[in-house]
Amino acid sequence: MTIKPHGGVLIDRILRGEEREAAIARAASLPRLYLDSWETSDLELIANGAYSPLTGFMKRADYEKVVGEMRLENGLVWSIPIVLGVSREEAESLRGAGEAALYSEKGLLLGLIKVEEIYPYDKEEEARQVFWTTDPAHPGVRRLYRRKELLLGGEIVLVNREKPALFPELYLDPRETRRVFAERGWRRVAAFQTRNPIHRAHEYLQKCALEICDGLFLNPLVGETKEDDIPAVVRVKCYQVLLAKYYPRERVFISAFPAAMRYAGPREAIFHALVRKNYGATHFIVGRDHAGVGNYYGTYDAQLIFDEFAPEELGITPLFFEHAFYCRACGGMASSKTCPHGDEEHVFLSGTKVREMLAKGEVPPEEFTRREVAEVLLAYYQGRNGG
Ligand code: ADX
Repeated sequence: MTIKPHGGVLIDRILRGEEREAAIARAASLPRLYLDSWETSDLELIANGAYSPLTGFMKRADYEKVVGEMRLENGLVWSIPIVLGVSREEAESLRGAGEAALYSEKGLLLGLIKVEEIYPYDKEEEARQVFWTTDPAHPGVRRLYRRKELLLGGEIVLVNREKPALFPELYLDPRETRRVFAERGWRRVAAFQTRNPIHRAHEYLQKCALEICDGLFLNPLVGETKEDDIPAVVRVKCYQVLLAKYYPRERVFISAFPAAMRYAGPREAIFHALVRKNYGATHFIVGRDHAGVGNYYGTYDAQLIFDEFAPEELGITPLFFEHAFYCRACGGMASSKTCPHGDEEHVFLSGTKVREMLAKGEVPPEEFTRREVAEVLLAYYQGRNGG
């Protein structure tokens, strides 16, 4: 039996057949809203059940309680606002309309939204609560400050999705990943969130989890990320070369998580865990500074936040890991929990340092990144430098 989705029911708001045709016909006479890539991915993730129990973009009661208390109006845990911004002019155009048609930036009709509520909100308050900072240098806060002035809340349906430009085979809905896990007979499934190439520390966490679970669900985030993060297409190549050579094929399953990265650290860790439960995972890996950026969060804040909830409220079990590194004296991967040696024996590089090395054409040490992964990254950086 696969794990229950958050709220008990896997939401499905993807219209098919005649219902879909009728919605498409109706859309022609409705006011139009154009979604950015972030909102487009949220729309899809509501529709395919990844954001269960959400059935639409949040209305005011849910939004305010999520921001203030990390709960939906009905009391279920939810840590990140899922909202649709509208301008004053757009709000005006929706006056009297029961529904609006939702289009992608490229002009594809994606779905419909019931115009249930349009409401003002306090961006600074959202920033302070969700991101723990109002600093516009924080990429999530910057994104929030750019969001339109009002929010439109209401139930949605999906009629079309944009085709992923690359690796369409990696885009699976929760219904499909759940089926895969059931077919493989996995009862304990450890999910791994990442927005980076897999370095040795990531691999160590994943393999520790594989020692105690039936399977590893590698679920890289491939939605919008900040500019200096490595693009998803390059990362996917890294995942493929690594999985082919260093992982038991039948014990790992990879699919894409198309959401945008918020960089909300602790709050995003809770969100990532709940969503992975919806995909069918029973366990969720949380390491050092999960979903963090800069110095906005303490190294283990994204683990400590789990203590604010009763385990059954989350339903998915977090697997916490200390900062991992290669230790020359131990001759293997370790953490402060397993290694007695000093920093001078430890190989650890920051993301910034690795990017600097790659940009200069230098290969990161094998103790930090497998050679096969380093080669893919170097080729990307050389291409960028016009080399
Ligand atoms: S994240 O933004 O998706 O969290 P990243 O892809 O780097 O960034 O991390 C994926 C997961 O691995 C997160 O749970 C993170 O905490 C964990 N992690 C990354 N590096 C380390 C490390 N050196 N030691 C322990 N955990 C790590």
